[in-house]
Amino acid sequence: MKAKVFYQHIFSNVSQILQDEKEFQPTSSIIFQHFVDDEFALLLDKEIKPIDISSLDEIFQRLKNDEPIQYILQKTFFLNLPIYVDKNVLIPRPETEEMVLDIFNCPDIEIKKVLDIGTGSGCIALSLKKKFIDAQVDAIDINPKSLDVAKKNAKINDLKVNFIERNILQMDNLGEKYDLIVSNPPYVCQSEKKSMNRRVCEFEPSIALFVEDDDPLIFYKKIIALAKTNLNDGGWLFVEINENFGKETARLMFDLQNVTIHKDINGKDRWISARFLK
Ligand SMILES: C[S@@+](CC[C@H](N)C(=O)[O-])C[C@H]1O[C@@H](n2cnc3c(N)ncnc32)[C@H](O)[C@@H]1O
Repeated sequence: MKAKVFYQHIFSNVSQILQDEKEFQPTSSIIFQHFVDDEFALLLDKEIKPIDISSLDEIFQRLKNDEPIQYILQKTFFLNLPIYVDKNVLIPRPETEEMVLDIFNCPDIEIKKVLDIGTGSGCIALSLKKKFIDAQVDAIDINPKSLDVAKKNAKINDLKVNFIERNILQMDNLGEKYDLIVSNPPYVCQSEKKSMNRRVCEFEPSIALFVEDDDPLIFYKKIIALAKTNLNDGGWLFVEINENFGKETARLMFDLQNVTIHKDINGKDRWISARFLK
C-alpha cells in the first residue's frame, strides 16, 4: 500500500470518530507514525510494509470510547523526549512544555540543584536534566505508580533523576537547598469537572488533576512556603497555574521577587515565575 492511501484511511476514520476538527490531523499523524517508522514515507508517498489491520481497528475502537490516543499508544513526546504514558500519569501538555522552555532561560544563576514537585511521568524533571546535564535533579510524587512510570522514562531517555515518594502537603522542609523548584501541581477545581472533556475526566488520574473548591490554591501555599525555606539565594520558583487564579496565586508570592505571570500560546495565564532573594 502507498503511504498516502494509508494516511487517508486513518484520517477518514479519525474524522468520523473525533468531535474537534483541530484534532483530526495531529491524531492521524500520531497513528500513522506509530505504524510507519519513516519520516519521509508520506512526503515521498513510499510503498509501506503490510499493516496489522486488527491493531489499527482496535485503536479506532478505543478512540471511539474517548480514550486519549497517548494512552492507547502508551507514548507521547515532551520537548522531543519520548515519554511512556499510561493511566497512572497525566498526559504531558504543550503548555507545560512552554513553561519548561521559559525555565531554560532563567537568568543569573547556575542551576546545580533542581526539584520537580508532582513529577507524574517525569517529563519536567527529565527535560530539565537533559538541559542542565550536570545538575542534581530530584522529583517528588505522592503516587508510587506515577514514580514507576517516571523511572521507566528516565531509563528510556538514559537520564538520572532521583525520584522520591512523598506527600508534599505533609512536608515542612525539603531537607535540601535548590537553585530551581518547579511544579505543575493539581489545580483544577472539582466544580470545573462538569465542563471538561470526558476524555480527561474519565481517563486521566484524578489525583493529578483536582483540588477541592474550598481551597484551590492549597498546593501553591505549600510550595511557596517550601520555596522560601529551601531555595538558595537567587533561586527560581516556576509553577504552572489554573488560568482563573493567576492574580490570587501571584499574590501569595508577595515576599518573593520578580513575580511574573506568563501567558500560554492561547493567551491564558498559565505559569508564574518568581525569585527568592535574601
Ligand atoms: C498535574 S500532574 C503533573 C504531572 C507532570 N509534572 C506534568 O507536568 O505532566 C500533578 C502531579 O502531582 C502529584 N501529586 C498530587 N498530590 C500530591 C501530593 N500531595 N504530593 C506530591 N505529589 C502529588 C500527582 O500524582 C501528579 O503526578
